[in-house]
Amino acid sequence: MKVPLAVPNLNGREAEYLQECIRSTFVSTAGPFVNRFEQQIADISGTDTATVTCSGTVALHMALEGLGIGTGDLVMVPSLTFIASANSVRHSGADVWLVDCRRDDWTIDLELAGEAIERHTVAHPAGRLHVESGRVLKALMPVMIMGSSLDFDAHVRFARQYGLRVVVDAAAAIGAEAADGTALGATGVDAVCYSFNGNKTVTSGGGGAVAAADRGLVDRIDHLVSTGRVGTAYDHDVVAYNFRMTNVEAAIGVAQLERLEQFLVRKREIHDRYVELASRHPDLEPFPTPTLGRSAYWFSGLFFTGDDLGRCDEFRSFMVGHDIDVRPFWKPIHLQAPYAGAISTDVSVTDRLWRRIVPLPCSTGITDGELDFVVDRAAEFWGDPSRHV
Ligand SMILES: Cc1ncc(COP(=O)(O)O)c(C=O)c1O
Repeated sequence: MKVPLAVPNLNGREAEYLQECIRSTFVSTAGPFVNRFEQQIADISGTDTATVTCSGTVALHMALEGLGIGTGDLVMVPSLTFIASANSVRHSGADVWLVDCRRDDWTIDLELAGEAIERHTVAHPAGRLHVESGRVLKALMPVMIMGSSLDFDAHVRFARQYGLRVVVDAAAAIGAEAADGTALGATGVDAVCYSFNGNKTVTSGGGGAVAAADRGLVDRIDHLVSTGRVGTAYDHDVVAYNFRMTNVEAAIGVAQLERLEQFLVRKREIHDRYVELASRHPDLEPFPTPTLGRSAYWFSGLFFTGDDLGRCDEFRSFMVGHDIDVRPFWKPIHLQAPYAGAISTDVSVTDRLWRRIVPLPCSTGITDGELDFVVDRAAEFWGDPSRHV
């Protein structure tokens, strides 16, 4: 039995909708599925509109650029994230200010971020001026790591205190909710950015989206991703991009979102199995469950709390030896070559966490038999008191 980490579940109407694209010849960036997908995303996000892009990285980049963030600016980003979060900031022309994460929920440490702002910036007409770099802090990019939720109220309060925009990296978090069931786009943040890459709960093959309460922002991004064309002749009022999602990709996305609730239920069931698995061993914890809001549980797995990192590597090799796809987790941004020398807070929590995070197979199409196999092999490795008495 071979168990992949996270593969798409394409057993809905994806093939039928793709056929419709071919039949209608709408295979490029115009077409009914693009509009439908945008409306579905807006509805889920609690916004009037959303715009779709060719990737999640581009969604983040366009949200920043649409908000006027670019050269000479700084954006606070957690170091514990996939490199795309930081890359999107650099693509916009701005620079990252890396921040450590919290031990309990692995999200950006706002207390530490606030201390860093107080220590390294002064008030300036354009915002908070970072004295050493001469750059102006303009935005906060919290990451909904593993599809989990955030304390949105705290983030919005923090942003208001320092005059920042909030661009949420919700790459893997479609279907997650803020406290009291509030939709992500209705929380007071400026933009919510999703990815529909193939390993996400909802895929369009590749793609992304920005949902925002400010219709003007969505329109600006729409314009930026569609070559900045004005009118029907070839007039363009800005150096823009060809970054829009195609109808073919959106066709897959529409079919996927029709089954979002079903996918979320399965993701939760998988998470619950790994919570139970972790509870059986003193050196293991499950991935965090948010205290506020609802996680989309994109990835779940085990967190190793022990000191012997070699055990963690042995576990990965053991699982791979049983044809179970278990990989190292994202290397944090402060350890990546393009970000050597980036402005950063202390990152000791991130340094301790990342090697100990072990995502386990979590495709929405995983069978109960496959899940049992993964759990049994893991229990065999870690020693399961209930099985090995
Ligand atoms: C946290 C995070 N941010 C951004 C991205 C970028 O998305 P994409 O691969 O669609 O560009 C991803 C996923 O790939 C991600 O996991």
